[in-house]
Amino acid sequence: MTATDSQPPAKPAPKDPWTLPDVSGLVVGVLGGTGDQGRGLAYRLARAGQKVIIGSRTAERARTAAEELGEGVEGADNAECARRSDIVIVAVPWEGHADTLRSLREELAGKLVVDCVNPLGFDKKGAYALRPEEGSAAEQAAALLPDSRVTAAFHHLSAVLLRDPEIKEISTDVMVLGEVRADCEIVQALASRIPGMRGVFAGRLRNAHQVESLVANLISVNRRYKAHAGVRLTDI
Ligand SMILES: NC(=O)c1ccc[n+]([C@@H]2O[C@H](COP(=O)([O-])OP(=O)(O)OC[C@H]3O[C@@H](n4cnc5c(N)ncnc54)[C@H](OP(=O)(O)O)[C@@H]3O)[C@@H](O)[C@H]2O)c1
Repeated sequence: MTATDSQPPAKPAPKDPWTLPDVSGLVVGVLGGTGDQGRGLAYRLARAGQKVIIGSRTAERARTAAEELGEGVEGADNAECARRSDIVIVAVPWEGHADTLRSLREELAGKLVVDCVNPLGFDKKGAYALRPEEGSAAEQAAALLPDSRVTAAFHHLSAVLLRDPEIKEISTDVMVLGEVRADCEIVQALASRIPGMRGVFAGRLRNAHQVESLVANLISVNRRYKAHAGVRLTDI
């Protein structure tokens, strides 16, 4: 028996979980990009050097919003936005989520979809989490888009902070969920391009419901403390 036979095969060195891919060349689309969250994300990503296309149900509205956002942002209708982008962030209200995605199934085939929708209800006691039939908005997206690579992220960001040009850094973590680790790493890398943010892998889509729902708690925090609270994960 040779020395080689007696040795178990060498295991590959574990990959540093903070080693993320270079996503600077990818085009990011934002469905519903004329709204608060979409505009805020588009502004921050473009400011970080990313090419961004904001989508709208009306191309004209998207173009007007894109002009306001300035360099690095273009506007198009949602279908063109999806077609021309590598990564597509879904930033439409929960009420329009299913219909929007159903209508864009073809354009979104093969794309990396990032759902940031929080299904919430509001009554006189404040915000509360809704329970989508599929489990979460992200799982609904995955069910409606079987040919896309669906992930979920950006749920806990404040649109007010994202859109404030005086704020240089937004100190928060972005929980990223998905079934395929490499896709999650692309989204983590995208989040990490925004100064102050860290993209953190946070599990599979079956655990998206509690991440989406946490926004109801953050809204209570914001009302009580007149703040724009985000989330920081400790010890990582
Ligand atoms: N606001 C935040 O701070 C924040 C933070 C984290 C996550 N989110 C999530 O991001 C999503 C967008 O929030 P938002 O505050 O930006 O919402 P929003 O301003 O009410 O809506 C975003 C855009 O979606 C389009 N839209 C409106 N109703 C629609 C419908 N029924 N079907 C398809 N598109 C429709 C509109 O664009 P066009 O009219 O141009 O098509 C609108 O400008 C929500 O699901 C929310 O849970 C928001």
